[in-house]
Amino acid sequence: MQTVTNGIFKQPYEQLETAWARYIGTNEAVAVSSGTAGLHLALKALGVGPGDEVIVPDFGMIAAAFAVTYCGAKPIFADCRHETVDVDGGEIKRKIIDKTKAIIIEHLYGRPVYETIPIVGLGIPVIEDACEAHGAEIIGRKVGTFGKLAVFSLYRNKIIQAEEGGLVNTDDPVLANRIRELKSMAFGHAHDYYHHAIGYNYRMTNMQAEHALMELRDIKWYLKQRQAWANQLDQAFSHYTLSRPSGSVIWVYDMVMENQDQRDRVLQALTKANIPARHFFKPMSMQPMYCGADVEIGKNALRFSQRGLYLCYHRSFEQKDVDKTIKIIKENL
Ligand SMILES: Cc1ncc(COP(=O)(O)O)c(C=O)c1O
Repeated sequence: MQTVTNGIFKQPYEQLETAWARYIGTNEAVAVSSGTAGLHLALKALGVGPGDEVIVPDFGMIAAAFAVTYCGAKPIFADCRHETVDVDGGEIKRKIIDKTKAIIIEHLYGRPVYETIPIVGLGIPVIEDACEAHGAEIIGRKVGTFGKLAVFSLYRNKIIQAEEGGLVNTDDPVLANRIRELKSMAFGHAHDYYHHAIGYNYRMTNMQAEHALMELRDIKWYLKQRQAWANQLDQAFSHYTLSRPSGSVIWVYDMVMENQDQRDRVLQALTKANIPARHFFKPMSMQPMYCGADVEIGKNALRFSQRGLYLCYHRSFEQKDVDKTIKIIKENL
């Protein structure tokens, strides 16, 4: 799948960058090897380094905290809201100090962060971790267009996937070019073996890009299929789901149980029946490399981590699989 534009050969990863930037609605997109690599490079592009702090959600995927640590900076954890798992803007505000260089927010399980706009308004560069929210929108605008930078994952369990891979979106050509430079050993345009920075090999392969391009063509259909699956589960379990703001997409189907015993019972039954399901994240503040006397554990993050589970979606699901899932959950509530 090689095309020629104005006489210039465009590689599949470049075609993907163009198509993805257009789909999300940013000026630029950069293809990288994973979502985690994208987060790392987004922070590097903002100049995050030793001595800096970056606020990350306490309830979320550990990649955000790890990316901060890779930069030699310190992750500071902000609790999620009481009602739902997305980060609390008030908590972020409370944790901002002089050393705060960036904020990472995570659009989890397909749900846009409720307070995205006020958080961006705090005036500190925001990186949207949208690895679980391809196609989600806030007031008609796609997530990934609100922060200085945004990161999407193409890992195999994501809404669209390339087995592994990531995409970084931004409107800022300077940031995009910095990421392009860093992701490929900082070879630079001249490619004269004079390196201006310590670079990485975070390149996406053209094989991944070709696969991702195919998936992107069908993204509307994939989103529709997942929504239809969730609609059936909503009918059965509306009391157990978190509210979904309009513009949400379905990545997984999350449920919050009355207590940990109930959650564990349901999860065990699903696992025994070979139905893919997982419990929620554990707070980042409780992970062995980050916990400590001076690290506050988010109360809401902890409560959700004890009571939450999510059902994973698979494209091969048939109606009988959905029926079986509903039956097993109902029997074990
Ligand atoms: C919210 C979130 N952030 C970051 C990542 C990291 O992405 P990757 O696995 O592509 O490195 C993931 C997914 O795996 C994720 O779900």
